[in-house]
Amino acid sequence: MCGIVGYLGNKQAFPILIKGLHRLEYRGYDSAGVALVNNNGELNVYKTKGKVKNLEDYCTDKDISGTVGIAHTRWATHGEPSDANAHPHYSQTKNLALIHNGIIENYLTLKKFLISKGYTFKSETDTEVLVQLIEYVKTEHKLSLYDAVHQALTQVIGAYAIGIIERNNPNVLVAARKSSPLILGIGDNEFFLGSDASPIIEYTNKVIYLNDEEIVKIERNKEVEIRNLKNVVLKPEIKEIEMNLEDIEKGGFPHFMLKEIFEQPKSLNLCMNGRLQKELNEIKLSGITDFGDKFEKANRILISACGTSWHAGLIGKYLFESFCHKPVSVEVASEFRYRNPVIYSNDVLIPISQSGETADTLAAIKLAKDKGAFIYGICNVVGSSISRMTDSGTYTHAGPEIGVASTKAFTTQVAVLIMTALSLAKRMNTIEDSQYKKIVSSLAKIPEQIQEILDNKEQIENISKIFTYAKNFLYLGRGYNYPVAMEGALKLKEISYIHAEGYPAAEMKHGPIALIDEEMPIVVVAPHYSTYEKILSNIEEVKARKGRIIAIVSKGDTEIKKIADYCIEVPTTEECLSPLLTVIPLQLLSYYIAVAKGRNVDQPRNLAKSVTVE
Ligand code: F6R
Repeated sequence: MCGIVGYLGNKQAFPILIKGLHRLEYRGYDSAGVALVNNNGELNVYKTKGKVKNLEDYCTDKDISGTVGIAHTRWATHGEPSDANAHPHYSQTKNLALIHNGIIENYLTLKKFLISKGYTFKSETDTEVLVQLIEYVKTEHKLSLYDAVHQALTQVIGAYAIGIIERNNPNVLVAARKSSPLILGIGDNEFFLGSDASPIIEYTNKVIYLNDEEIVKIERNKEVEIRNLKNVVLKPEIKEIEMNLEDIEKGGFPHFMLKEIFEQPKSLNLCMNGRLQKELNEIKLSGITDFGDKFEKANRILISACGTSWHAGLIGKYLFESFCHKPVSVEVASEFRYRNPVIYSNDVLIPISQSGETADTLAAIKLAKDKGAFIYGICNVVGSSISRMTDSGTYTHAGPEIGVASTKAFTTQVAVLIMTALSLAKRMNTIEDSQYKKIVSSLAKIPEQIQEILDNKEQIENISKIFTYAKNFLYLGRGYNYPVAMEGALKLKEISYIHAEGYPAAEMKHGPIALIDEEMPIVVVAPHYSTYEKILSNIEEVKARKGRIIAIVSKGDTEIKKIADYCIEVPTTEECLSPLLTVIPLQLLSYYIAVAKGRNVDQPRNLAKSVTVE
């Protein structure tokens, strides 16, 4: 949800800012803008509706000089995408320019106050209110920019990551955050700001993760100064991040989504590295070694997440209940946080998040934490807000996921859930050793089995071309593969804009069966495990109503092949591991359908990668 970048150093800021915006464009792409202070102290703001490329074109004949600047790519919250609503926003006197990711909840009250003081507004945004407030406080109390930002923010309710610069002051950039991500990169006499590390990593791997309610003053040739809203001066804590440039580039693939689908053998190997010990046929998860007692004592496990991460959580329920005999409740975070759920102090909450910044998941953690629950996070982005709020947990190590549609994050989340459930079951003696060993050795083979499916991409591409006509799709699955059906449907709708529903296969008879006719494609996830016979009957029911069946089946299947219109084979494994394989053809199917329909796969309409507003 909105990407922000900033630079202060000895280089020209514009190219660095634009490159940074391209890297962050996955966070929002309805308008973009940049502000720079040039050598004469002039503060220039350029902004346009549309993608970052539009901004670059718009700036070709403009003065883009300056060694300090801020830039923004927007996902609209207050006010439609337009030139006026794009960031940066000037203050009334045009002495200040500000970029913002988040929502100022009390902006209407503040706006009313500022109007009473003679301020006028050019946009419908909450952000313009913030920059005007900072200017008002600054002039009224004759404060420095740093002090004015501090004082203004004490009056603000809401979420923000901001960057602000000032006319006639090319030596200072001030930034602050609360509930929206912001990272500060420390180079050699130069400083970078980014919503995540991707705009920074090319220049430095030394970063400071700002915490909530912290304000930073970046001054040319000086050490950074940080203080919090309570005016406590803090010692900056510099960390080193591990991320390579190749991780955030397309590497020859036409889209990040395809690159990330194909990266799954590698990302799963990284996820299991050092945890799945092949020689011993064992799993060692430090989080469970150190905090397994919290799970043991817990009467139940709560899992909370959004979207694809929630689908991974649903698979987690099957895993923990089967292997650890613990009751599990899986909650969509946005519902959980507002329905006053019963949470006991001996509950364990597992929040799952790729970005680690999803506002609703963060709120679910706060709620459970306040009630004394133990928080065990599953998260991809190291140093993200969620990872910092948890008591313990496991990183998925999928590497940066840039395609808006989540793929490798899902499979690594499922892998972590499998490893967590197995280590816990072993610790609690709720699993037979032979079963444990069998699953662990099968898990080790998953990356190469995924590669086998990826090698069959042509077949999936050919099938996808047949179905571009469809307006609706139904996805069916049972057991471990019911959440996979939901995930397949989500992938299809978000990037191809075809309506799709994921359903438990047997539940189809209670309603959705009415939708089936000879036009309707039904994707059935039907590998050969415990519910095979049952799902075979469900397929017969669809066929009797002339639905067009695309089945995901186990290698060597003979029965479903007799009935289905198209069959895509996946290798056999243990039932509990099957989602790691069955989801791959569904990711590819949605990708190829979207490409055939000419959709912008990496930047689907209305979406943003990281949902930092509720
Ligand atoms: C779908 C997708 C979203 C995210 C959801 C949660 O492809 O990407 O549904 O899964 O917004 O995001 P995280 O996992 O970052 O909390």
